[in-house]
Amino acid sequence: MNGVPRHLAVIMDGNGRWALARGKPRLAGHRAGAETLERVLAWCGEVGVEILTVYAFSTENWRRPKDEVEGLMRLLGLFLRNRRAKLLEDRVRFRVIGRRDDLPPALRRRIAALEAETAAFTRQLVVALSYGGLPAEERTDAAFARCLYAPDLPDPDLIVRTSGEFRLSNFLLWQCAYSELFVTDVLWPDFDRAAFDRALASYARRDRRMGGHA
Ligand code: FPP
Repeated sequence: MNGVPRHLAVIMDGNGRWALARGKPRLAGHRAGAETLERVLAWCGEVGVEILTVYAFSTENWRRPKDEVEGLMRLLGLFLRNRRAKLLEDRVRFRVIGRRDDLPPALRRRIAALEAETAAFTRQLVVALSYGGLPAEERTDAAFARCLYAPDLPDPDLIVRTSGEFRLSNFLLWQCAYSELFVTDVLWPDFDRAAFDRALASYARRDRRMGGHA
């Protein structure tokens, strides 16, 4: 039996389908997804998950329509502005992993400022932005060690993927070697406390042998 995962990572999938099912634009799904993220962060605090890492934008997501990409960047900026006070109050360290040079300069500045302001806190919210694994030709051990965006983070204990896809989609590929996986059909904007509790209960029942024998 395991306790609560120290590091929970989430692939927040299904925002687009959630919006489509309601006849709304995709961005409305991302907006609802950002609200789900706020709730999940609060639940992590309640149950004692120390680090929450979320996949908010992959290197492949730049290929989405310009409107959606710009909308997501705006949403991220708003999230940082509106959530700043709450993160400081709750003493949550904010960090971004990924190719931050790809991001709009104003967003980059806001990220750097919030990272600096929260650097001393223990609880962490890690947002993967323009994030992807290494290209095949660079996959050597030394390159991996050099290239980890946040080498001090422990590997995720549990990776949750919403919306029923059994894929990692280039998320934390090196760090997931012994992570437990949990896939739920629930779409990310609908991910509620019951779904969160099911994921953690499933993790608690897992027998983590880390490659060793029983
Ligand atoms: C995947 O759903 C989700 C994304 C590409 C974006 C995730 C972003 C958020 C939850 C909100 C913004 C985040 C922060 C940190 C404020 P999808 O669009 O691929 O859904 P689909 O597969 O149903 O189309």
